Amino acid sequence: PVPLWLDCDPGHDDVFAILLAAYHPGIRLLGISTVHGNAPLDKTTRNARSVLAAIGKHAEIPVYAGAPQALRRPPIHATAIHGESGLDGTDLLPQPPPVWEEAPAISAVEAMASALESTAPGTAWIAATGALTNVARLFDKYPELRARVRGVSVMGGSVGGGFTPAVMGVVDGVPRVGNYTQWAEFNVLIDPEAAAMLFDDPVLKTKITLVPLDLTHLVLATKEVQDMLLYGPAKEGEEDGGVREGRGKSDLRVMLVELLNFFAGTYRDVFGIIEGPPLHDPLAVAAVLTGTEYEIPFYDYDPKSPEGPNRRERFAVEVVTEGTLEDARERGTQTGRTLVTLLPPGSEGIRIP
Ligand code: BDR
Ligand code: CA
Repeated sequence: PVPLWLDCDPGHDDVFAILLAAYHPGIRLLGISTVHGNAPLDKTTRNARSVLAAIGKHAEIPVYAGAPQALRRPPIHATAIHGESGLDGTDLLPQPPPVWEEAPAISAVEAMASALESTAPGTAWIAATGALTNVARLFDKYPELRARVRGVSVMGGSVGGGFTPAVMGVVDGVPRVGNYTQWAEFNVLIDPEAAAMLFDDPVLKTKITLVPLDLTHLVLATKEVQDMLLYGPAKEGEEDGGVREGRGKSDLRVMLVELLNFFAGTYRDVFGIIEGPPLHDPLAVAAVLTGTEYEIPFYDYDPKSPEGPNRRERFAVEVVTEGTLEDARERGTQTGRTLVTLLPPGSEGIRIP
C-alpha cells in the first residue's frame, strides 16, 4: 500500500478524505495532522479525532495539531460553509476519548518528518486538504524530505480552464473561477505564501498533483450516492430509495449522510448549487492511488471530449500573493506560467494559456 500522511482541516469533505485514507486497501495511513482553516485549529483537531473515533481508527492513527494560523495572514474560517464547529449538521459525532486531550510530545511537523523518514525513498505521499501551512513548514524545516517523498497531492486552487464556468456559474457576466472570491479558492487563499513556497520550490513543483475546483465540482454526493452510503449498494429492483427503507442503516452511515446534507445546504445557500454537494477533499487522497492497481480514472469526465478521457496536464504554476490582475497577467504572459487563485482581496487571477 501507498504510505500516506494526511494534512487536513475537517471540514465536511475532509471527513471523507479521512475515511478513504483510513480504509482504502491501497493506502497505509501514517498519521494525520490538522491545520487552521474551515474552523480554528482546536476545532479542526477535535473534529479529526472525533471522526477517527466514529470510524473506529482512533487507536491506530495519531492526530497532531499543526499550525494555528497562516504564515503571514490573519485567520479566515469557512463558517458559512462548515458551520461554527467546522462540522455542523449532526449530533452523532462522538466525543474524542479524553486521553486525546493531552498534548502530544512532538509537534505535527516533527511527527510528519519522522513518519516520512520511516518510509522507503520515493514511496510516500502527503495529501493536503486544507491550508498549506503545515506542509510548507515541514519542507522548510526538513528540506531533505523533498527528495524522499513520492508526491504531494493538494486539494486547492482553481485553474479556471475548460469546464469551471459551466460548473461554478457566472458572476456579473464573468465566469466564476474561485469559491471564496470570484477568483480565489479557499485553501490557497487562506495561506497563499505557504502555497507559493511549495509551487516555487524546484523539487516540489515537479511532485505536486493539484486537484483543483475544476475537478472537484464534478464529483457530487448526489441522492444516489447518499442512498448508497445509507444502505450500501442497491440490490436488484431496489433502485428507488424508498424500497430500501428499513435496510441496514448504522449511526455512522446516518452521521455521514447528515454531514453531506448540511454541506449540500450551505452550497445551495451560498453558491446556489442545487445538485451536490461537491466532495473536494477525498479526491486529493484518491490521486495518490495513481499508478497503482486501484487507480481511479477520475479525469474521465467526458469521454466525448476531444481531449479524450484521463486528461492530465502538467504546467508551471504561480501563486500570486500580491499585486493586481494586470500585473499578474503581464507576468504570466512573460513567464508562460499558470496563475492559480489569488489573494489579497482586490487582486484577481486568471489562467494565462
Ligand atoms: C476546500 O475548502 C474547504 O472548505 C474544503 O474542506 C476544501 O478543502 C475547497 O475549496
Ligand atoms: Ca478541507
